[in-house]
Amino acid sequence: MLLQFLSVLWETLSLWVFLVFLAILLLIADYKKRIRPRDFPPGPLPLPFLGNILDVDSKNPHFAVRKLAQKHGNVFSMQFGNMWLVIVNGLSLVKEGLIQQGENFVDRPKFPLTYEIFGPFGLVFSNGLIWKQQRRFALSTLRNFGLGKRSLEERIQEESRYLTDAIEAEKGQPFNPHFQINNAVSNIICSITFGDRFDYHDNHFQKLLQLLDETLHLHGNIWAQVYNSFPTLMKHLPGPHQTLLKNWRQMESFVREIIGKHKKDWNPSEPKDFIDAYLNEMAKESVASSFHEENLLYSTLDLFFAGTETTSTTLRWALLYMAIYPEVQARVQAEIDSVIGQSRLPAMDDRDRMPYTNAVVHEVQRISNILPLNVPRMTTTGTTLAGFHLPKGTVLVFNLTSVLFDKDEWETPDVFNPGHFLENGQFRKREAFLPFSAGKRVCLGEQLARVELFLFFTALLQKFTFQAPKDVTLNLDFRMGLTVSPQPYRICAFCR
Ligand code: HEM
Ligand SMILES: *[C@@H]1O[C@H](CO)[C@@H](O)[C@H](O)[C@H]1NC(C)=O
Repeated sequence: MLLQFLSVLWETLSLWVFLVFLAILLLIADYKKRIRPRDFPPGPLPLPFLGNILDVDSKNPHFAVRKLAQKHGNVFSMQFGNMWLVIVNGLSLVKEGLIQQGENFVDRPKFPLTYEIFGPFGLVFSNGLIWKQQRRFALSTLRNFGLGKRSLEERIQEESRYLTDAIEAEKGQPFNPHFQINNAVSNIICSITFGDRFDYHDNHFQKLLQLLDETLHLHGNIWAQVYNSFPTLMKHLPGPHQTLLKNWRQMESFVREIIGKHKKDWNPSEPKDFIDAYLNEMAKESVASSFHEENLLYSTLDLFFAGTETTSTTLRWALLYMAIYPEVQARVQAEIDSVIGQSRLPAMDDRDRMPYTNAVVHEVQRISNILPLNVPRMTTTGTTLAGFHLPKGTVLVFNLTSVLFDKDEWETPDVFNPGHFLENGQFRKREAFLPFSAGKRVCLGEQLARVELFLFFTALLQKFTFQAPKDVTLNLDFRMGLTVSPQPYRICAFCR
């Protein structure tokens, strides 16, 4: 009896001793990974196994770590999984990284989640030669198919007519403008890349837009971040990250289908859109060319999602701000009435004569801050920033929020104030206006987005006055995703 008891005790004890021993071993092995490299930016103490993941409030990541910047300065580091992340704050350091030292910070990190989806291909997440060739080609092709040319302006004008018709059909009743705006904006990049727009009642396309919306929203989910920290584990666990991956595959097959159609109808002497031009490029024989099926697929997908979500989100913020600041809306409308009137559509030539409207569009972009932490970058070589050493392969976040709300740059950073972009009634450019980022990897669609924002916004305010529905108070609550977008809202559009 006693012997039996002792042997059980010994077995349990030895199991415990073994487990404790194992835990200590793992801690020691883990400890080395938690030590900052030499001369690395300071930051909060990472926990064993977890790193600093608990230091981030996932609901509000772009404002959550203010305390850390206050404590550690404008450049500090944190750890996610085994990866160090360096955060850079304030206009002068962000500019040094993105512009002065542009070449050293031009790469994107290979985050497990985006790498699982895009691999090394396309425009947004690629590096090196692939990125250089794809970006150069996309820029020049976008230019040829309308960027900066009349035809693009006409396409947007035509689309804004469809959009205002669809909104007029709501007859001033409360409605959620999300998918009409999404569809209108998406149609511009679709007509450039796919050669065609989609009707607002096209169910197939509406489903795709909904899928895109859901998917980009899932990127703001905590599980997406956990996936990046522990990819091998998460790959085998169910959860929202699996939906996210499945959705991307679905969007891919949508694009694949369209590419298939282009191949069938391909006429090399008459490229009608981005995909046609790409097929021509693929047919050229050249050594070390990155123009192949996979880059075609992912570059097209990149243009589609980056060209839809961002501009649409900004316009949805714009309508919300107009309804909440009716005096600003009225001044924009007064300017529209005096410069354009009601008998014709707004055109890009009008912008120079409409400083107030231009300022409002800029201020909406500044304050809505839709990509608060920019898109992450990675050092291509060992370098120094603010006196700290950053080894090759260090992942960086150039904090755009810290620039767009920099207290030394803006008179009233936290207030919606078009005056930030006005001086003696004239439009005033601001150095700290960097919603598109800057440098070699600056947003590829910046020109396109600016034209779209001005023309759509002006066309909407020319036709409608936006107001909160009766007995509803609109608010500026946001929703985290790949971008920061407004919470779904309903609004009334009254014909003017
Ligand atoms: C309001 C609208 C938009 C905003 C605020 C915006 C913002 C940004 C930002 C901050 C980046 C990251 C730049 C960096 O790493 O430094 C980016 C990249 C990119 N944007 Fe935009 N964007 C907008 C519209 C568009 C449109 C309409 C397109 C479609 C052509 C587009 C295509 C891209 C692409 C392809 C990249 C990746 C560029 C690269 O990695 O080389 N964007 N955008
Ligand atoms: C980015 O800048 C904003 C504004 O200065 C700040 O509140 C936030 O904590 C910063 N985010 C990070 C990750 O440093």
